[in-house]
Amino acid sequence: MSDVVPGKTEQMRAIKDAIVNLKESPLYEYRTSHNYYPVIGQGSHDASIMFIGEAPGKNEAEQGRPFCGASGRLLDEMLDSINLKREDVYVTNIVKDRPPDNRDPRSEEIELYAPFLDQQIEIIQPEVIATLGRFSMVWILERFGSPKASQKISQLHGQLIPVKAGYGDVMVIPLFHPAAALYRQDQKETLMKDFQVLKEFI
Ligand code: URA
Repeated sequence: MSDVVPGKTEQMRAIKDAIVNLKESPLYEYRTSHNYYPVIGQGSHDASIMFIGEAPGKNEAEQGRPFCGASGRLLDEMLDSINLKREDVYVTNIVKDRPPDNRDPRSEEIELYAPFLDQQIEIIQPEVIATLGRFSMVWILERFGSPKASQKISQLHGQLIPVKAGYGDVMVIPLFHPAAALYRQDQKETLMKDFQVLKEFI
C-alpha cells in the first residue's frame, strides 16, 4: 500500500482532534464544565497572511471561532481597510482554550499548546505572520530565534522582521492587540497604520 500524504484539511483535523482530547491541559476541565469549545483557528489553509492572537475569550469559547467579539469586529474593520476578508487570511491563537476570567495565558499553557501552533504554521506556510499582542510576538520571535525577541512591542510594532521557518523565509510583523485599541483612539490609529504594511503580502 502506498503512503498517502494527508492534505491540509486532514492535518488540521488531526490537530483539532488532539486538542479536543487534550485532557492534560490545565484548561480542559474549565472548557468541558462550561460547555466551551476549543478554538483551533479559522480561514484559508493557503493564506499568505496568518494572524496569531493570545487565547480565546468567552465569545470565542462559546462559538469555537477566534476573534468573534469586540476585538474581532475591530480586526474585521482593519482587514476591510486593506480589502481583505476573514476567509482570505488565517486567524488563530497560541493557546487554544479559554483561560478563566480572561486572565493572561500562563507559560505552562503556552508551552503545552504551542506545538499545535508550530504545526499550523508549517501547514499554512504563510509569507507573513502578524502577531496580535505581546504574548504571541514574544513567542514567535523566540521560536524563530530572532534577536529582537527581547524588545518591547512598543518598539517593534509595525516592523517587518525576517525569520526562518521550517518551510522557508517568513516575515513577522508585531501588531498591538485589537483589545488594547478598543478604548484608545491613539492605539487604534497606530494599529490601522501598521496594518497597511500587510498590503504588500496580498
Ligand atoms: N483575544 C485573542 O487573543 N484571541 C481571540 O480569539 C479573541 C480575543
